Amino acid sequence: MKITKICCIGAGYVGGPTMAIIAQKCPHIQVTVVDLNRERIAAWNDADTVNIPIYEPGLSAVVAEARGRNLFFSTDVAKAIDEAQMIFISVNTPTKTYGSGKGMAADLKYIELCARQIAAIAKDNKIVVEKSTLPVRTAEALKSILDETGNGVQFQILSNPEFLAEGTAVDDLLAPDRVLIGGDSSAAGEQAVQALVDIYANWVPLDRILRTNLWSSELSKLTANAFLAQRISSINALSELCEVTGAAINEVAKAIGMDSRIGPKFLNASVGFGGSCFQKDILNLVYIAKSYGLTAVADYWEQVIILNDHQKRRFSNTIVKTLYNTVSDKKIAFLGWAFKKDTNDTRESAAIYVADDLLNEQAQLAIFDPKVSRNKMLADLDYLATRSSKDNAKNATSFDEPYSACENAHAIAVLTEWEEFRAYDWQRIYDKMQKPAFVFDGRNLLDRAALEAIGFVYFAIGS
Ligand code: UDX
Ligand code: UDX
Repeated sequence: MKITKICCIGAGYVGGPTMAIIAQKCPHIQVTVVDLNRERIAAWNDADTVNIPIYEPGLSAVVAEARGRNLFFSTDVAKAIDEAQMIFISVNTPTKTYGSGKGMAADLKYIELCARQIAAIAKDNKIVVEKSTLPVRTAEALKSILDETGNGVQFQILSNPEFLAEGTAVDDLLAPDRVLIGGDSSAAGEQAVQALVDIYANWVPLDRILRTNLWSSELSKLTANAFLAQRISSINALSELCEVTGAAINEVAKAIGMDSRIGPKFLNASVGFGGSCFQKDILNLVYIAKSYGLTAVADYWEQVIILNDHQKRRFSNTIVKTLYNTVSDKKIAFLGWAFKKDTNDTRESAAIYVADDLLNEQAQLAIFDPKVSRNKMLADLDYLATRSSKDNAKNATSFDEPYSACENAHAIAVLTEWEEFRAYDWQRIYDKMQKPAFVFDGRNLLDRAALEAIGFVYFAIGS
């Protein structure tokens, strides 16, 4: 099947960048990204592509090149479904907040809504591609909904999980380690897989395009995220041991990372991992294992989350303990709010939880992040529902630049690894702070020797 029209439901962090790159690399294919959220679509269509709703290095240039040529953003979901031969589903799959599996299982209601809408609209055969991270065997549920239409339309379901990381989405999409496509082994299934391979083959070498069965593909995505998160929890567990024994976690990480079997990546000790995927996907894995009665497997993976929560709490406790056991009415400056550098995404960011702990201790927070708006910060705090919006707004203030955020502060906490923090005039910051001036570096980002030479009392994770 030759694909000339694609539609993607969900214009978020996954759908938006992925479709922009497909459109850039396949000018012969018309790509329409649809979303129920009108504001989001309006922002994707903003005349100035700098204002697109997702900040990713290099993305606005890709959108500027392809938008209006073969890349379109629209709220007309029905029309896009009707016209497309291939439909990607990139809607969100948050952790369930109600009912059975609450707090653990993935909430698939948006996926199901998409399937029902596709079933109602489709008048010709379509390939439906799962882009969203889904629990194993979701494809089966999708298929049963789609096959119930009774109008003779044939659907093929593919699983094509996205491995891009935020902040490097464009590079990851342009040069992926691998593209994974899971499909049915029937002749029609293989044709559908081939149609998707043909799209990626426009820029991805064929030996990096992996074909598996549907279930392997779905489970591989959860497993990849679980392994990555487990490395961070492993190094973070050892960071606590380093702090009490006098070993330095950076040195340990370097020493073990040079073992080619271990490798150097994902060994940065930190205040804890955040982001929309790691916690959600592990909880999902735990839930699946439990539902098959595999308690030991479930407990093993759950420990990755338990340790991560412990690490965030440990960081806020260190701040309180070091500031003479009270932060009440003390000003604490936060550098960073996003869950990692080079993104405006704050989902599950460690900063939110550390802020929540410190607000419980009656601290006054002064927050600066290069890409996150004040509204977003307050919305994140309000979402936890620990205290009223009014109290959050009163006690957490955001700043447009770092120097006023740090003025008169008792301590600075580094929550995101933005490179620009290294280049600040730290002498100028020190001069305007309360003394002793503390820095709690939750990312091991800054230069200890330089800060100590200025006069700061400097704490890093794991040393
Ligand atoms: C999401 C999931 O978090 C991830 O697990 C999955 O792999 C891909 O989808 P992301 O793109 O980061 O990732 O989510 P988000 O930025 O929330 O975007 C989803 C979009 O889907 C939102 O803009 C939402 O408005 C839209 N949506 C949701 C619909 O258009 N229709 C729906 O029925 C539900
Ligand atoms: C992750 C996966 O990397 C990606 O393949 C998948 O598609 C989605 O989930 P993402 O969450 O965007 O991507 O970012 P990632 O770079 O993995 O970082 C996740 C969190 O771990 C961040 O909070 C980051 O700061 C933290 N981290 C990462 C560490 O604390 N230490 C490290 O060594 C690496």
